[in-house]
Amino acid sequence: MASNILLLLVGVGVLSVFASGAQPPQPPRIQADVVVMGFVPCNNGTSPMRTGSAPGFPNALVQLQCTDGAVAAAANATTDGKGWFRMALNTTASVASVASGCGLVVATPLASCNAALPATGTLKSGLRLLVSMVFFPRGFSYVSPSLD
Ligand SMILES: *[C@@H]1O[C@H](CO)[C@@H](O)[C@H](O)[C@H]1NC(C)=O
Ligand SMILES: *[C@@H]1O[C@H](CO)[C@@H](O)[C@H](O)[C@H]1NC(C)=O
Ligand SMILES: *[C@@H]1O[C@H](CO)[C@@H](O)[C@H](O)[C@H]1NC(C)=O
Repeated sequence: MASNILLLLVGVGVLSVFASGAQPPQPPRIQADVVVMGFVPCNNGTSPMRTGSAPGFPNALVQLQCTDGAVAAAANATTDGKGWFRMALNTTASVASVASGCGLVVATPLASCNAALPATGTLKSGLRLLVSMVFFPRGFSYVSPSLD
């Protein structure tokens, strides 16, 4: 249902682009109930994690983890060379329960993007609903191993 809404929005966008005479954009190739996309900074979380305020974390393994056992959803993604990732998954869980029950964990040690950063501990982020069933990270912050 949620994905139908997104497809509808995309469809309207394609039609209006068509009407203006431009080439229609490629339709999205992913078909999924939930999409999570965002930016992983190479940073230990001492400053707000806005894009551009920190270099990206390339080739980082990002995992969707749901602490709420009732939410059956799991996915992995690897960031590109600039720290961006996108994951798509099918789940029977509602968008609201994914938003409240799931978060992102960066499994690759921070030290692999900057040797000055800690070798242990992880970057974690909650999820923020962007539109329909598309989530963004709320903002990654560093969680030291003792607090893990
Ligand atoms: C984060 O990095 C800054 C500067 O590199 C350092 O002063 C700070 O102690 C680090 N914080 C953590 C939690 O590692
Ligand atoms: C994600 O990666 C972890 C560690 O490699 C693996 O245990 C898990 O099964 C993967 N999950 C999915 C949904 O691919
Ligand atoms: C989700 O399910 C649809 C329909 O079964 C399938 O075409 C699509 O590839 C699936 N997406 C993912 C990310 O598994």
